[in-house]
Amino acid sequence: MRHIAIVGAGGFGREVLAMLRDQLARDPARASSAICFVDDAKAGQQIHGVEVLSVAAFAALEGSRAFVVAIANSEARERETLRLEALGAAPFTVLAGNALLFDTATMGEGAVVAPFAFVSANVTIGRQFHLNYHSYVAHDCVIGDFVTFAPGVKCNGGVVIEDHAYIGSGAVIKQSQPGRPMVIGRGAVVGMGAVVTKSVPAGVTVVGNPARPLGAA
Ligand SMILES: CC(C)(COP(=O)(O)OP(=O)(O)OC[C@H]1O[C@@H](n2cnc3c(N)ncnc32)[C@H](O)[C@@H]1OP(=O)(O)O)[C@@H](O)C(=O)NCCC(=O)NCCS
Repeated sequence: MRHIAIVGAGGFGREVLAMLRDQLARDPARASSAICFVDDAKAGQQIHGVEVLSVAAFAALEGSRAFVVAIANSEARERETLRLEALGAAPFTVLAGNALLFDTATMGEGAVVAPFAFVSANVTIGRQFHLNYHSYVAHDCVIGDFVTFAPGVKCNGGVVIEDHAYIGSGAVIKQSQPGRPMVIGRGAVVGMGAVVTKSVPAGVTVVGNPARPLGAA
């Protein structure tokens, strides 16, 4: 038996469940996989007809085990990834049927690419990327590990987004230009609705149009 766990049984986990069910129904080789949630705080519950297991109970299942982490917080996502990998489970990518991933793009393991999302030409993406509904990554962008895009993000061409950055719902990021690379630094946060016209230093939160550090906008 092949088991696929959705790690995190919160709101996003329930959205990923719908995407995963649809993906498996389209894939005869995987259609018989058993889906569970893994969430120590909710172990024993049934959510939308799916059992929630503790990490220990998931580790004890017989057969092959794969997982996708449905937690937006990137530090928690990395922590859960390391924990599940240490138990011998393999990262699994959830890719919505109508999401579009160009063949010249590359994406690391364990991503969630939601419906109506789009990854364009020559894009490089690290592991455990979350690309939510109606978000796009335009040509030549370079995205690090554990990066999160909320719904409706417009990330234009040639942008560099470093590890653990979070891009809020509806944000727009200007494209890189010759001699003026657009870089969203490691762990930076772009607030919902922000229009980013300049690079954002590591760890800084920006909001507004044009985006400014929170508190200065
Ligand atoms: C930017 C953000 C991270 C700040 O969160 P926070 O630190 O909890 O900030 P607060 O809610 O305490 O707000 C602090 C101030 O910033 C303002 N603010 C917060 N987010 C803002 C935004 N996106 N744009 C403009 N102003 C914003 C608040 O109005 C508040 O202003 P005030 O001090 O004048 O009252 C958050 O508001 C945000 O945009 N998160 C992304 C949400 C999202 O996209 N969710 C998708 C879920 S799938």
